[in-house]
Amino acid sequence: MLGLATGSTPVPFYQELIRLHREEGMSFARVITFNLDEYRGLDRAHPESYWSFMHRQLFDHIDVPAESIHLPLGIVDDVPAHCAAYEQAILAAGGIDFQLLGIGRTGHIGFNEPGSPRDSRTREIHLDPITRQDAAPAFGGIEQVPTTAITMGCGTILAARRIALLAFGSNKAAIVKEAIEGPVTDRVSASFLQDHPDAAFYLDAEAASLL
Ligand code: PGA
Repeated sequence: MLGLATGSTPVPFYQELIRLHREEGMSFARVITFNLDEYRGLDRAHPESYWSFMHRQLFDHIDVPAESIHLPLGIVDDVPAHCAAYEQAILAAGGIDFQLLGIGRTGHIGFNEPGSPRDSRTREIHLDPITRQDAAPAFGGIEQVPTTAITMGCGTILAARRIALLAFGSNKAAIVKEAIEGPVTDRVSASFLQDHPDAAFYLDAEAASLL
């Protein structure tokens, strides 16, 4: 059972999974996936929905069965019920064996913006202005970026048996330093990984430059 992430960071990882599938016969037929989050208000067909992103970047190119793919819905009436069902589905699938993460400049993992409690579960969250600013180019302007999202909580993520956080580039260096060397605090969700028994950060030289 894989927990998957969106954003530019995991794209090279997904390209390698596609290569392993195409060239080395790696099969995903028995893999179940749960993504971290989805923008609220976006239909799955919207080009910037994480549903679209994941199909474009990975699912359309490997043999994971459609029924094994899970992302929160961006358009849903009863948000608390949908979030509770997402948590239940993760448990029913046996829990997350391996969770892939990026990190936002706010320190978010998933969309757990500053103030997200360590034991938080899947829920709706207001996106930080920095997060919306970082997403603005893809949406053609900040006013098009959704203001809220549905995200797995910190507690959902920390329940994964193994966690890998990827961060590349100098614009992540300051928050990577805070997450790894700073106090464990809900002001930086990624700092909770310090207390996880099997979490690792995979950094390039620029992202690691302040350590
Ligand atoms: P990025 O986003 O990979 O596009 O930098 C990371 C994140 O916000 O988690």
